Amino acid sequence: MSGNCISAHQDLNPDTNRPVLLYSHENHQIYWLGIPEHTAFRSNTYLLKSGDQALLFDPGHRAYFGRVHERVKQIIDPDQISGLVLCHQDPDVAASIVDWLQINPSLPILTTPRAHILLPYYGNGEYNWHDITAKPSFSFANGHRVQFIEAPFLHFAGAFASYDEKSSFLFSGDIWAAIQLDWRLVVDNFRIHLQDLDLFHLDYMASNIACRGFVEKLKPLHIDAILPQHGSIIDTSDVAAALAYLETLRCGTDILYPQLKV
Ligand SMILES: [Fe+2]
Ligand SMILES: [Fe+2]
Repeated sequence: MSGNCISAHQDLNPDTNRPVLLYSHENHQIYWLGIPEHTAFRSNTYLLKSGDQALLFDPGHRAYFGRVHERVKQIIDPDQISGLVLCHQDPDVAASIVDWLQINPSLPILTTPRAHILLPYYGNGEYNWHDITAKPSFSFANGHRVQFIEAPFLHFAGAFASYDEKSSFLFSGDIWAAIQLDWRLVVDNFRIHLQDLDLFHLDYMASNIACRGFVEKLKPLHIDAILPQHGSIIDTSDVAAALAYLETLRCGTDILYPQLKV
């Protein structure tokens, strides 16, 4: 098992009422800042801190802004955040954009053109946009880099995932999201977890072709952990099984229109 597995940094039943450190090496840390209580789409937010900068992934709904902001403050001055990474525009991912822009109007928003068209409907379209399709990476001042990988129709047409090169962790957004009554921070039995992945993926993900196309794009990358926006994190030991799950998944239009063969 790789040295970058989460269990190397964290006991797997941590206190989830505070920021949870998932990865730490030299000046590079990843924290979970999510919502532990049960909601239909219990959401994960992640902070990637590198040197004295940070990116906030999937900041979440407005209802949780105060709590996420408080947790960020326990790690870094929120003014030092270098950008919000919004893997698509759904409210559970992105509605708090207006609160973040209120405290820092020049905060960069890293997202795709299709999400960028819709984000202003939350109430503020005057922001500094980093188009991840035109510039598919972000570099910290210390040289560490995050790559952005477009994931069309998983589930939004303009969705994307983010790969941190230093940790080899993939911030996957709704891909590998799970709906769980019995939630834990990190998957402890992937075979059982498959049912919770199905609860989300069969209805939300577009088709097997969309899934397979995305897995193809990931093939050149070495992935040590998958950090979805909902449900348990997938650690190193289950990454290969998670990729195989997505590659073979029949979902969306495959199920709705089984008589129509491609
Ligand atoms: Fe979504
Ligand atoms: Fe979501």
